[in-house]
Amino acid sequence: MNELFDVDYDGLIPNNVALNSDERVKRALEKWHPGYISWWHDMGPQGFQESLVYLRTAVSVDPKGWAKFDYVRMPEYRWGILLAPQVQERQVNFGAHKGEKAWQEVPGEYRAMLRRLIVIQGDTEPASVEQQRHLGKTAPSLYDMRNLFQVNVEEGRHLWAMVYLLHKYFGADGRDEADQLLQRRSGDADTPRMLGAFNEKTPDWLSFFMFTYFTDRDGKMQLEALAQSGFDPLSRTTRFMLTEEAHHMFVGETGVGRIVERTAQAMKEAGIEDPHDIAAVRKLGVIDLPTIQKKMNLHFSLTLDLFGNEISTNAANAYHAGMKGRFREERIKDDHKLESGTYPVLRLVDGKIVSEDVAALSGLNMRLRDDYVADAAIGVGRWNQGIAKYGIEFELKLPHVAFHRHIGEFSRTNADVDGNILPPAEWTKRRTEMLPSSADRDFIESLMQPESTPGQFAGWIAPPKTGIDNKPGDFEYVKIAT
Ligand SMILES: [Fe+2]
Ligand SMILES: [Fe+2]
Repeated sequence: MNELFDVDYDGLIPNNVALNSDERVKRALEKWHPGYISWWHDMGPQGFQESLVYLRTAVSVDPKGWAKFDYVRMPEYRWGILLAPQVQERQVNFGAHKGEKAWQEVPGEYRAMLRRLIVIQGDTEPASVEQQRHLGKTAPSLYDMRNLFQVNVEEGRHLWAMVYLLHKYFGADGRDEADQLLQRRSGDADTPRMLGAFNEKTPDWLSFFMFTYFTDRDGKMQLEALAQSGFDPLSRTTRFMLTEEAHHMFVGETGVGRIVERTAQAMKEAGIEDPHDIAAVRKLGVIDLPTIQKKMNLHFSLTLDLFGNEISTNAANAYHAGMKGRFREERIKDDHKLESGTYPVLRLVDGKIVSEDVAALSGLNMRLRDDYVADAAIGVGRWNQGIAKYGIEFELKLPHVAFHRHIGEFSRTNADVDGNILPPAEWTKRRTEMLPSSADRDFIESLMQPESTPGQFAGWIAPPKTGIDNKPGDFEYVKIAT
């Protein structure tokens, strides 16, 4: 057994944090456990709780090999507490405390700030499980169904990761927050989840793939920023979450890519050259490219809202305190204090979008959002290669950051996908050119017929290039209990 990496599976809660020698936290988590399981039964994947799913479980935190694959019933999944190995002599790498020893306990002055950061991150994890709970019934293949459930159980584990920090480091308030994480519900009128995008519906599989591509990628950016934290337990927790998160974005990128490819291929086979001949394309039983663009506009814009206000005192304070850094802080060449210097921020001034230099510390949300947009553009480029391969002239494009916003500078205006400000009436008139209409949603829904024969795929999505865990094409990823 490698002490640094291996996970103890003996008790109720698998962990590599020596829970056995921490009686107080162990008891607190064991008390929280039944509530979690009952939440999973109530709000986890609908209809497949008895099915055997070919899932990976973390058995180590060694980056070179940490997962074991096997058939599991989801309620029996071993949700555990896994921290990346401690880095000896780690220091606070940015902010006012730069160069001091990283904190192993919560610094009193930053307690409220830190708790808030952990609760907000924690709240997103169960939210997405709730949003996706009905998708199993319309899965386009067993392969996709398995990927959905893998993402779901890992979001459940991410909730455990945050709840561990709350119980371990925040006493009675932490316990209350951990309980409330099981009480809020995505989209609930009275007790919604904390952030807007996590209260939206994920009505179909194209939405699911867009969500895992765009919204899980916000998760990646937030986790990257928290992985920099001078509060070492938060850094270690989020570093391991990032290794799991990579698969979620793989599911999103390849999912959208396979839909796009299938559409382009079907068009080519039918000799349809005009991607805007929507009726003709839909007759082929595939999703037309303009509708895919509209779904992308929706999910991208909802996700941008998660980055908060462009100019933010909270973000400045969290950075100054050494609690939340920048994306890949260690690779940035500056003083890592940001007491001087500026950052260009897009603002709405006299009805126009202009770039203004603001104090670098105030513009941190904008900076993280810029890093996000650059990261999100990479996969879009790959989707476009999939279209070009079939000689179809159509390019998917990220909409302008001012488009369809509800938080920040641009929530006060109506911009189109190119960033032109429109009068409200004009925007309303053109809305369904830019965002899915109810007819678009109905069409997509009509395609959502389940395909559960091993190796078979619904007609609107191409098969993946390779299987999970190198399994052959007809592998039975889910043994559906009847
Ligand atoms: Fe997550
Ligand atoms: Fe995720």
